[in-house]
Amino acid sequence: MTTITEIAPDTFRINTFIPEANLGFSQFLVRDEESLLFHTGMRALFPAVHEAVSKLIDPSTLRWVGFSHFEADECGSLNEWQQVAPKATAVCSMVAKMVSVDDFAQKNPAKGITDGEEFTTGTHTFRFLATPHVPHNWEAGLLYDTSTGVLFSSDILHQNGDVAALTSETVTDRVRQAMLEMQASPLADYLPYTPKTDATLKRVAALKPSTVASMHGSIFTGDGEQAILEYASVLKEVFGGDN
Ligand SMILES: [Fe+2]
Ligand SMILES: [Fe+2]
Repeated sequence: MTTITEIAPDTFRINTFIPEANLGFSQFLVRDEESLLFHTGMRALFPAVHEAVSKLIDPSTLRWVGFSHFEADECGSLNEWQQVAPKATAVCSMVAKMVSVDDFAQKNPAKGITDGEEFTTGTHTFRFLATPHVPHNWEAGLLYDTSTGVLFSSDILHQNGDVAALTSETVTDRVRQAMLEMQASPLADYLPYTPKTDATLKRVAALKPSTVASMHGSIFTGDGEQAILEYASVLKEVFGGDN
């Protein structure tokens, strides 16, 4: 079942829980003069995501498709969106545009952006942070909505399970548990830990988001800086050691 939850003004979490994977997948619609969808979900989810978006806006008017990195759950149905929304354009890191996205989705070339760049969709202004290899992949970046304090954090704060849409309780234990479960599965080593990881996460934490909107699991509202610093230390604990 796909659910819709407003997590901030005109900012909606669209979530589908997939029991076989014990994992939820969230897309976020920011409804504005030029509406933005952050994450498309995989192609298999397109009908459900399209239906959910239809309840919030006329889906043919979707203008921007944002995502962190090039992966099926992040941008798998970009082409499907460009079919139903003629102006739908990816907004992603310049690396993503150059390396993968413009080859994958040729109808509307992506808007490639660089670290610190801001753009507006009407009443919302977004700041882009280039975060290579955080959470993973060279082309990774994150979008921060300066208007609402929402950080679209992709796989940062990933939690498994069928959990509440929103929480103000710490999710750090669930984040650690999800990392350990991933490590014990065929998907082991999905997050790299490099000499730059901690500094990158400190830059993300310094945004001091009031809401951390992860693709997987509950959306955390509260001290986002603390939540991301705790994520950094759990990441080091699980992926940064010699074990
Ligand atoms: Fe990912
Ligand atoms: Fe993901």
